[in-house]
Amino acid sequence: MLDGKKSLFSGMQATGTLTLGNYLGALKNWLTLHNDYECFYCVVDEHSITVRQDPAELRKRARNLLMLYLAAGLDPEKNCIYYQSHVSAHAELAWILNCFTYMGELSRMTQFKDKSAKHADNINAGLFTYPVLMAADILLFQSDVVPVGHDQLQHLEITRDIAGRFNAIYGDVFTIPEPYVGKVGAKIMSLQDPLKKMSKSDENPNASIFLLDKPDDIRRKFKRAVTDSEGQVAYRDEQPGIKNLIDIYCACLGKTPGEVEKEFAGLGYGVFKEAVGEAVVGVLAPLQARFEELSKDKAYVDGVIRAGAEKAGYYAFKTLRKVQKKVGFPERIK
Ligand code: TRP
Repeated sequence: MLDGKKSLFSGMQATGTLTLGNYLGALKNWLTLHNDYECFYCVVDEHSITVRQDPAELRKRARNLLMLYLAAGLDPEKNCIYYQSHVSAHAELAWILNCFTYMGELSRMTQFKDKSAKHADNINAGLFTYPVLMAADILLFQSDVVPVGHDQLQHLEITRDIAGRFNAIYGDVFTIPEPYVGKVGAKIMSLQDPLKKMSKSDENPNASIFLLDKPDDIRRKFKRAVTDSEGQVAYRDEQPGIKNLIDIYCACLGKTPGEVEKEFAGLGYGVFKEAVGEAVVGVLAPLQARFEELSKDKAYVDGVIRAGAEKAGYYAFKTLRKVQKKVGFPERIK
């Protein structure tokens, strides 16, 4: 809770470009949450350097991600949109929470195990304490809810454990966050392997639609989408490729699977795939146009970035000061 309003925090890494899955499954559903929550959407650039990054690339991708938030329709007057690295309270709280987190619990994190297998030459301490920084992100804003994908639930669980442990010693300092279970967006699968989630880091570029893909690339990727040999547009688990395309079509046009089955009854996959491609091109066109505009309006985006850091800082430092006092750091002399 912040100033009597429930609060919500979410963060995204600036690695890779957002996909249609991120948009239909998450971002699109965030646009109205500010009616019920004080919302913080953070570009978590500090998490990104747990694996090696090219500095110029990281800076560019972080800005693009922030502009995509705006282009997708998140209103910066109603939501706090900012860079993690602009609010030093994140790193400062993470340090304190490190001292309330056990090596044993961090070693059990599946993402750490996966990432250290993938980056065997760079298993750094930041990769290990990644969940503690994430806990700091969430707890700084006394977040009630956190919209996260399935792969981040374990990190939310450790956040709850750390917060509970801290509260047990020092009194009620942190709100214990819950995963956000609201209207869930569509779960969009890979176009090349419909049993796998669409991912921004898929090695096969045809597997994912990126939000800034050109219309012709989008059309081509849908043409090549993996389906089956059943030959009917039916919404059933036995046809995961077609099912995924129906989900995408429904999410874009607000239709139901039943309506889509009727619309394409007796028509071939070619016609259906083309229609899905067009629907996606149509949904992304205004977002892409807005992104173009924002790319040219440096002053406006800079203003959002400055205001975001200021607002996030206001709340974050309030929590941090309280924590510092609780653990026994000397008072600041005014
Ligand atoms: N670890 C998250 C991911 O990779 C990103 C993240 C960082 C996050 N801090 C967060 C998500 C706080 C939710 C809340 O997806």
